[in-house]
Amino acid sequence: MKKILFVTSEAHPLIKTGGLADVSGSLPKALSELGEDVRIIMPNYQAINRTEEVRYLSTVYVNNYAVNILETRLPGTGVTVWLVDCPEFFNYPGNPYVDEHGKPWANGAERFALFCRVTVEVAMNRSWLDWKPDIVHCNDWQSGLVPALLSLEYSRPAIVFTIHNMAYQGIFPKATYLSLNLPGQLWNPHGIEFHDMLSFLKGGLVYSDRITTVSPTYAKEIQTAEFGYGLEGLLSYRKDFLSGIINGIDSDHWNPETDANIVQTFNHSTLNKKQLNKAALQEKVSLPVDKSIPVFGLISRLVEQKGIDLILECLPEMLTHPLQFVLLGSGNKGFEQRLHNFAESHPDKISITIGYDETLAHLIEAGADIFLMPSRFEPCGLNQIYSQRYGTIPIVRKTGGLADTVIDTVPETLNNNTATGLVFNEANAGTLMEAIKRSLILYNHSKTWKQLQINGMQKDYSWSKSAKQYMTLYSHL
Ligand code: ADP
Ligand code: GLC
Repeated sequence: MKKILFVTSEAHPLIKTGGLADVSGSLPKALSELGEDVRIIMPNYQAINRTEEVRYLSTVYVNNYAVNILETRLPGTGVTVWLVDCPEFFNYPGNPYVDEHGKPWANGAERFALFCRVTVEVAMNRSWLDWKPDIVHCNDWQSGLVPALLSLEYSRPAIVFTIHNMAYQGIFPKATYLSLNLPGQLWNPHGIEFHDMLSFLKGGLVYSDRITTVSPTYAKEIQTAEFGYGLEGLLSYRKDFLSGIINGIDSDHWNPETDANIVQTFNHSTLNKKQLNKAALQEKVSLPVDKSIPVFGLISRLVEQKGIDLILECLPEMLTHPLQFVLLGSGNKGFEQRLHNFAESHPDKISITIGYDETLAHLIEAGADIFLMPSRFEPCGLNQIYSQRYGTIPIVRKTGGLADTVIDTVPETLNNNTATGLVFNEANAGTLMEAIKRSLILYNHSKTWKQLQINGMQKDYSWSKSAKQYMTLYSHL
């Protein structure tokens, strides 16, 4: 058994903005079920959904702040969560990255630098918790200073750093670096300096013993200029220490057989019951209830990464076909407005919900026929996996984890029952539209369609395999 400190900026169901929360809420649970001693550490944000008891454990002093360590449990699991409680930084409305008005925190660097410093105290067993991890498992830039600072410690734990998204690097001006009072040895081009700026992410990539990312394809992609954002050289240099482990899912939470958020539970042998969720979805989002019309779903942060512009380009042609489109998301205001305009002029075909709504997300997965995920890049992606579990056929671009988790429908994969979706290559509206048209043809072949649904629903997406890959990695350190 290894002792693992899992460092994250979000974990479902405590607080979530995207897939990192899904992973942080499910991988530690899977690891602990396999016998590892895992503790999660994260900031004590005001917005945390507190359903379990929270108790005070200790106080540590870092950088002139007295910071409390609080303990709670990941709801529905036995996993311990340590909350880094520093009200000066975290007791404000908003989410981990933006304030209540959607603006990135002006003191984002200070917030996460403090979180990293406290995590180092916990990792070095200097915070009165009487527990020293064997492995510190960091995630994304918010934890990037942990490996950097630990590298200066004698007898430190081993460090794994997981990249969930290279597009977010935690880059700040040199003046911010100076104001943080970080040890001078770290400031050099082989350290946390990136073109005279401070890069939190580089701290993770340079100083960790192992780097992982959330799919094998993305592990290769980030070693190229297109996906590496200037860090491809460093990643290629460290390629012997870099690997891709595909994300699993919380198969209790995303389970069409037991999901309390949907109207009718179902499985691969009762697929006809999925229709009831479709009708409920159509009703809920004010579209005509019609079981024969194909419903396309999309749930996403509305950002460049997700190919929302490709969807916007395709919508005029999509509208010439008999179909409905249901979107749930929030993000870029320009995307939100343009989507709204389409919905307003075609209320019988398009429904746009701007906001964050977990119940609706589950109903879309269960009620839609086809799920759109035309990402420009996608480290792993979870909705295409949830879709397959719910008998909803994903249309994805061949990149990152989408390429690793969706099998395109071609004669060979139809014959051997491995096809689970539609995959297109180029990030442009023309190829996306081709895939959409292909899906409409397949949708009308009900026997083939059903087979695709069954193929996807029968795949094992649980953490069991991937969690064991992390354990193997830990055991080599
Ligand atoms: P990313 O982490 O890049 O946003 P993922 O596919 O890994 O993408 O994970 C996104 C997660 O966030 C999924 O669980 C998805 O259902 C959820 N999600 C995204 N947008 C919303 C929303 N507006 N309402 C509810 N859930 C959402
Ligand atoms: C990131 C990625 C997404 C991935 C998630 C969890 O947010 O954008 O592809 O699934 O992290 O690893």
